[in-house]
Amino acid sequence: MKIIRKDVISSTNEFIKEQYESLDNYTVVTAKYQTSGRGRMTRIWESNDSDNILMSLLIKEFKERTDLNLLSLVSSMSVHKFLSKYINNLYVKWPNDILVDNKKICGILLEGKMNDNSKMIVIGIGININQTTFNEDINHLTTSLKKELNKDFDINLLTLELAEILVNDIEEFLNGSNIFLDYIKSNLYGINKQIEYTRNNTLCEGTILDIHTDGRLIVKESDQILYINSGEIKIKR
Ligand code: BTN
Repeated sequence: MKIIRKDVISSTNEFIKEQYESLDNYTVVTAKYQTSGRGRMTRIWESNDSDNILMSLLIKEFKERTDLNLLSLVSSMSVHKFLSKYINNLYVKWPNDILVDNKKICGILLEGKMNDNSKMIVIGIGININQTTFNEDINHLTTSLKKELNKDFDINLLTLELAEILVNDIEEFLNGSNIFLDYIKSNLYGINKQIEYTRNNTLCEGTILDIHTDGRLIVKESDQILYINSGEIKIKR
């Protein structure tokens, strides 16, 4: 694993997507500040300078398993494991937000290129560490290690710790391990509870039952069992 540390960059995901041909497998890019940090579904990812973990990992060698949905759950497991060393009450909100109780502490954005000539996946991770106030519209839904524990953390040290866990878990996954499915299920936000979510832009209610081996969320809505792909629903909290 090689780490490239940047002070200011547009986005660590963008950097890897532009440079991946000349970068090694398992290169990690970190930044203190991103001028156009991106979240899922074209949202932006805001983070104060030097306060938080902003990192992306490049995967170029796959050993047959290239499934983005599964890798996304593996990444959630790694972040959950890493944060569990510092804090309790952590949940994975499917597919890949990490919550403390019901406040978001981490977001993960996977992007990939999969064609005959080149295969690559970037796993971008933003974890709120030392930042204690966020934009007004998300402040009540967002937390950080410092907000919860009232102390500062060393970002470089934490990033290294996380990168090691992540690369290890990905190696195991690529070698065939499915351990992440049980891990995610045991730490899944809203499991076996009646929850509200938006599906196809409509507010629905259902119960989360399980995660399918292909990574889809299994939900019971009235008398139907639904198998849901990421992006199809937005779980409310
Ligand atoms: C989300 O919850 O919407 C995903 C957020 C992902 C943010 C991280 S920060 C590092 C990497 N670079 C980006 O531009 N985005 C990801």
